Amino acid sequence: MKEVGVEFALTWIEPGPVTLITTNYGGRNNVMTISWTMAIDFDGRMVITSGDWNYSFRALRANRECVVCVPPASMAKTVVDIGMVSGENTDKFRKFALTALPAKTVNAPLIAECLACLECEVEDIVEPYGFVVMKVKRVWVNEDIEDRRILHAVGDGTFYADGERFDLRKRMESKLPPGL
Ligand SMILES: Cc1cc2nc3c(=O)[nH]c(=O)nc-3n(C[C@H](O)[C@H](O)[C@H](O)COP(=O)(O)O)c2cc1C
Repeated sequence: MKEVGVEFALTWIEPGPVTLITTNYGGRNNVMTISWTMAIDFDGRMVITSGDWNYSFRALRANRECVVCVPPASMAKTVVDIGMVSGENTDKFRKFALTALPAKTVNAPLIAECLACLECEVEDIVEPYGFVVMKVKRVWVNEDIEDRRILHAVGDGTFYADGERFDLRKRMESKLPPGL
């Protein structure tokens, strides 16, 4: 085998879907792109990794809530562009023509163009890693979006869209959480 640099490690670890995280800070909606996500239990807890170089991180720390939205792969270019500007000086909902819908338990908005939106409360922020531990409170899905493919970041500026789906439910039935 050929050895390559440690910087290539993460390109081989599936980091889950690329997400859009919405916040509402000082009465203004904002959104950032996050590809570092991880599910950590069956009770709806998940972690994103960020830091205070992002305006959204300040909102997460102050308000302790957000919405984690999962965009379809057809939004890939917009998803990247959202991650290239800051809400500190840009109204990204306007710039990227995103439709903000009211959530039920948080002030941050849902994004109508996304496949799913998870209303979340921040339970903990683990420094120095920038882990934001969240508990999902409500889940919204948009079944009208034609493109059902989720986007995945490799970490080097390239992306995959979901491809073939394997149904292996029978093989792992006893490990599946109730209701799924
Ligand atoms: C594809 C992509 C993935 C990203 N993933 C992350 C991430 O996992 N964590 C993070 O802190 N920033 C990530 N970013 C960078 C933020 O989205 C970016 O800094 C953004 O401008 C922050 O916006 P804000 O200042 O309005 O909060 C990503 C950017 C792109 C384009």
